[in-house]
Amino acid sequence: MSELREAVAAVDDVLELVLRSPVDWIPWLPMQIAWLSHDGPEPGLLRLGNRQGKSTAGAAELIFRCRGDHPFKPVPPAPVRCALVCMSMAQSVAIQLVLWECLGGQLSRDVIDGTEFSARTGFRGHRPVVEFTNGSQIVVYSNAQGAGAIAGSEYDYILLDEPPEQIVYDECLQRVTQTGGSVGLTLTPINGPPLPWLQRLVESGGVVEYHTKLTPESQISPLTGRSRKTKAGRPWDAEFIAELRAKTNPIDEPIRIDGAWESRSEGQFFRCFDPDAHMSTQAPPGQLRLCLGIDYAAADRELGMAAVLTAVRLDEKDSRQVREIHVLAEVLMPGSASMDDFSASILRMLRDLDIAWHELDHIYGDNPVRTRFIVSSNAEVNRWIARHLGVSQKALRPRVLAMKRGGSQSNQIRRTKDVRCRWLWGRIANDQFRVHPRCVTVRAALLSWDYGDKHPLKDVLDATMYGLRDFWVGSDGADGLQRVIFG
Ligand SMILES: Nc1ncnc2c1ncn2[C@@H]1O[C@H](COP(=O)(O)OP(=O)(O)OP(=O)(O)O)[C@@H](O)[C@H]1O
Ligand SMILES: [Mg+2]
Repeated sequence: MSELREAVAAVDDVLELVLRSPVDWIPWLPMQIAWLSHDGPEPGLLRLGNRQGKSTAGAAELIFRCRGDHPFKPVPPAPVRCALVCMSMAQSVAIQLVLWECLGGQLSRDVIDGTEFSARTGFRGHRPVVEFTNGSQIVVYSNAQGAGAIAGSEYDYILLDEPPEQIVYDECLQRVTQTGGSVGLTLTPINGPPLPWLQRLVESGGVVEYHTKLTPESQISPLTGRSRKTKAGRPWDAEFIAELRAKTNPIDEPIRIDGAWESRSEGQFFRCFDPDAHMSTQAPPGQLRLCLGIDYAAADRELGMAAVLTAVRLDEKDSRQVREIHVLAEVLMPGSASMDDFSASILRMLRDLDIAWHELDHIYGDNPVRTRFIVSSNAEVNRWIARHLGVSQKALRPRVLAMKRGGSQSNQIRRTKDVRCRWLWGRIANDQFRVHPRCVTVRAALLSWDYGDKHPLKDVLDATMYGLRDFWVGSDGADGLQRVIFG
């Protein structure tokens, strides 16, 4: 009996050790170990996909350095001063929570008594300082927008979690030069500023990088020989990884899953579109918003002039939430068609469905296209629609509005393309999207478009998405794209 009691007491002791310092019991993955072992003067970058344990490794590096005792390399003796730098409050609270959990929270053997933490706001204070019993410190910068934030202080080690602006990175390097300290980065190249400067530094050897794609092997800890598991107990094996990939849209997959610098999608883009499930003659019930989107094209594009009518059913409680989208009808004409003919065809499409022009709720058209003989533009469509309806141009309601505003620099256009394609991908994947069988071009385009700007069926998809502009603009607020594009 007493033997059993002794055994239980021993288990209790181990449990207490674990709870007081969880960071010492993490079954590290190969790339985490490689990065934690990095011991050069150059900054070390851990570049992985989302949820791959970047912040956990970053938090551990901070803790080991603050202790002056690191399991993977020699470090300067304590006490030391470290900083944790994040670009936004939301990212900062997320990694502060990781840091707090790695430390063991209230039971921590490392931090001083009275350290306060809130899961909503992080450590206490505008610029919190996590104090270790040995005198080491971690200063937390939560909103390092611009270099000024950390100017003037010196640190032995700075961790940048999530993509920084280059000026912030440069400033961090400055802040460790006097002390002979170093800088670490942990990031997925998304939700932040573009990083070509960092990529160049990696290529030139100015930053040493630790990177792997997500593979089953990358999820097996050499410390235990076992695969990492999800909270629900599923191993990160080939099957689970394949499911993850299938759930991620093709624009984001290379970055979010594999931590790639950039994404370039290949093959059919809307792989989530299933004609057996997503074609339907049934119009959605209830009140609908009618949307018309128009795309113009150069004369040589066979199906370049496109107008697509969609009906949107919104959530009854939250009118900004789309419940269902139905593609009702399409008009396709060659790029050389006259605006007179194109406008007449659009009106005919509406008439066939018993819809009057004034019943349309949202109408958006692309930028004008000029050829030697014709100008294809919203103004021309407005002019011809008014004429066909027998009203004066001024009296036409509603009018075709410009889809793109605020400049037409190519990278801005590219980013609206990403936003709207990502949004439509999500609606299809969520089973909120139907196509009427009469829309044969929309169907064919969904089955074949490869995200390319030269694809012969691209225009009809653009028109579909232009009409839905008011729903996808702002759909990707987390990236701040809306401000960049339409501000
Ligand atoms: N070596 C590991 N073994 C098992 N689980 C781990 C390991 N490293 C991290 N985790 C767990 O994986 C999850 C994600 O970790 P973490 O937040 O560090 O990832 P991240 O890459 O920073 O994610 P995000 O992309 O959301 O910022 C957490 O639940 C964490 O506890
Ligand atoms: Mg993280």
